[in-house]
Amino acid sequence: MAKKESIALIKGDAIKELKKIKDDSIDFVLTDPPYNLGLFMKNRATNLSALRKNHFSGKEWDNLEINDWKENMEQLFFQLDRVLKEGGNLIVFMAVIKIETLINIAEKNNFYYKTTGIWHKKNPMPRNKDLHFINSNECWAYFVNNKKTGTFNNKGKTIHDFFETALTSSKEKEFGGHPTQKPLPLMDHLIQILSNKGDTILDPFMGSGSTGVSASRLGRNFIGIELNGDYVKIAKQRLKKSKQCQLDL
Ligand SMILES: C[S@@+](CC[C@H](N)C(=O)[O-])C[C@H]1O[C@@H](n2cnc3c(N)ncnc32)[C@H](O)[C@@H]1O
Repeated sequence: MAKKESIALIKGDAIKELKKIKDDSIDFVLTDPPYNLGLFMKNRATNLSALRKNHFSGKEWDNLEINDWKENMEQLFFQLDRVLKEGGNLIVFMAVIKIETLINIAEKNNFYYKTTGIWHKKNPMPRNKDLHFINSNECWAYFVNNKKTGTFNNKGKTIHDFFETALTSSKEKEFGGHPTQKPLPLMDHLIQILSNKGDTILDPFMGSGSTGVSASRLGRNFIGIELNGDYVKIAKQRLKKSKQCQLDL
């Protein structure tokens, strides 16, 4: 019988739980932390409650003063440097206006900056379409830990720093939705290129577990951390359904 992947889903705070993970034990970190756009939007008198329903989720890291957010990110990168193997890949989804700050923090913590990539949404909500350009993309920053290159499975092909999908389908939200749930084809794309079968992938802000579902169906081990118990429940249900993996709950 084929070996089952090991999956651990942890309810708790990212930094506190990361401290319990062994040094040099993770091959790839793929994560989508809150973008901390709460105060920025509030100061611009944006209709925050409407936006929050659609875009924001974790109140904890969303409404911080910029210096407090930077301090959290410093602690996050310090821990990621410790738990990732040398040459381990790191992808962090982030708002484009924060990318330079993120790169500075990553470089201070021994990460080599590679790329800023784009996820383009084919069918974004056309909110206020007669007033401005419709926001249809999100960014991810790609780093390698302590080395200039990590696993990169391009199989001889040219791979652009741009990937297009539809918004997360309702089928992927059958156990309840997450406001910023990432579509599985996007996670599959990144996991196939940046890790190998049998690797261990970590997502310290896993939300509804999209990274974990992709990891398990592609034969990778997974560790997910999430503060909100309702999202942990959704992640458990999604993972149980996606594959008969060994759930270390
Ligand atoms: C942008 S969402 C991730 C969504 C995920 N990519 C998905 O597809 O469902 C960020 C998540 O981080 C969680 N979060 C916020 N602060 C946290 C913390 N301190 N520790 C762990 N998780 C946290 C939020 O509850 C939220 O679910």
